[in-house]
Amino acid sequence: MTICAFRGEFLSVARDPLRDPASVRHEVDGLLVVEDGIIAARGAYADLVDRFADVPIETLPGLIVPGFVDAHVHYPQMDKIASHGEQLLDWLDRHIFPAEKAFANKAHASSVAEAFLDELLRNGTTSALVYPTVHEVSVDALFEAALARDMRIISGKVLMDLGPDGLSDTLASGRAETEALIRRWRGRGRLGYAVTPRFALASSDVQLADAGALLADNPGILMHTHLAENVREVSAVAARFADSLDYLDAYDRFGLVTSRSVFAHGVHLPDRACARLAETGAGIAVCPSSNLFLGSGFFHFAQADRHGVKLGLGTDIGAGTTFSMLHTAGLAYQAGLAREYPLDPFRALWLATGGSAALLHIEDKIGALEVGQEADFVVLDDASTPLLARRTAGVPLAARLFALQILGDDRAVRRTYIMGNLAWDRDA
Ligand code: GUN
Ligand code: ZN
Repeated sequence: MTICAFRGEFLSVARDPLRDPASVRHEVDGLLVVEDGIIAARGAYADLVDRFADVPIETLPGLIVPGFVDAHVHYPQMDKIASHGEQLLDWLDRHIFPAEKAFANKAHASSVAEAFLDELLRNGTTSALVYPTVHEVSVDALFEAALARDMRIISGKVLMDLGPDGLSDTLASGRAETEALIRRWRGRGRLGYAVTPRFALASSDVQLADAGALLADNPGILMHTHLAENVREVSAVAARFADSLDYLDAYDRFGLVTSRSVFAHGVHLPDRACARLAETGAGIAVCPSSNLFLGSGFFHFAQADRHGVKLGLGTDIGAGTTFSMLHTAGLAYQAGLAREYPLDPFRALWLATGGSAALLHIEDKIGALEVGQEADFVVLDDASTPLLARRTAGVPLAARLFALQILGDDRAVRRTYIMGNLAWDRDA
């Protein structure tokens, strides 16, 4: 057994502060005791120090928050960030599909997966729900790299039997590869599986139905896809699924809307779909950086809240342009304000940590630095640039946190810890 403790300033938000303001937890001088990677105690240093007098204590410089949880990101797209000129459907055809074809090669997939996970850690992201490509080896490459880093990563082979040449599977191969991957990876390390139909337009009706069957047959896994992201995509879905009430209903008819369903975007949803999301417990990974980059629109926080839709936050690299969940939280504020919704900075922190963890059904394990959770955390530097230092000096916590979200990025991540072990040190 190894036991160690960290002393410093701690901040976490375990539940949606909109509904439960008492969930914001802040210790100016706190202690976090970690036993074999699991949090054994957390509280004010003065209250705990006697109980753990024999435990070695390391003092951490900065604001310690839970590791960020990116609820929607594509690892094969990291080298296509900043591809110019098109909205979603043309961007996919011109930039993304050609790049994804290269992930049939395991060595290429592995080298990108390694770089991707390193970049997550540099940005303080310790867990993510990740799109690979249609290729089985692209999942193996990611899971192998995540296992070696002991990271909590969820992924699953992309299903797309209507995909372009060289990037499509079939009903049979999609099912066989998904089942093989679940068998191969289930229960290993901190990994999880998500059945991942690319989006409604990339799969035949039979493959969408089969994805629903895979979800039903494997109770522990998630379903991960895109929903109502871009105006032209929504029109194309309405044309193909003319009998469906709306985009969400096109998935619902195939058994894909459940409490274990994670939908990226949801920018253009009618009230009926929001009500149905809330009724089923399915949720949305809000991706403001991507929505801005592809000209998709602004997420409607007030509408989602009116219906009680479960929410998390995602970067959606490579339509998103930043790995930083801090910066993404700042963009969520700006997207919200475009629809007159001033997102609270504590709620934004919750979306980037505990909210995304709940969306991914891992809130018992990570996201709030509570006793019994895994010790994934980040040490933030609120003076990482001269401007940030000026803007955070001597201001209240909410203003400091908001400045970190608006002005902060990877430079503000001083250290990242996985299961209590140092995984990234900016100053090393
Ligand atoms: N919809 C279907 N595929 C994709 C993708 O790769 N990125 C985004 N942003 N939306 C999608
Ligand atoms: Zn996406």
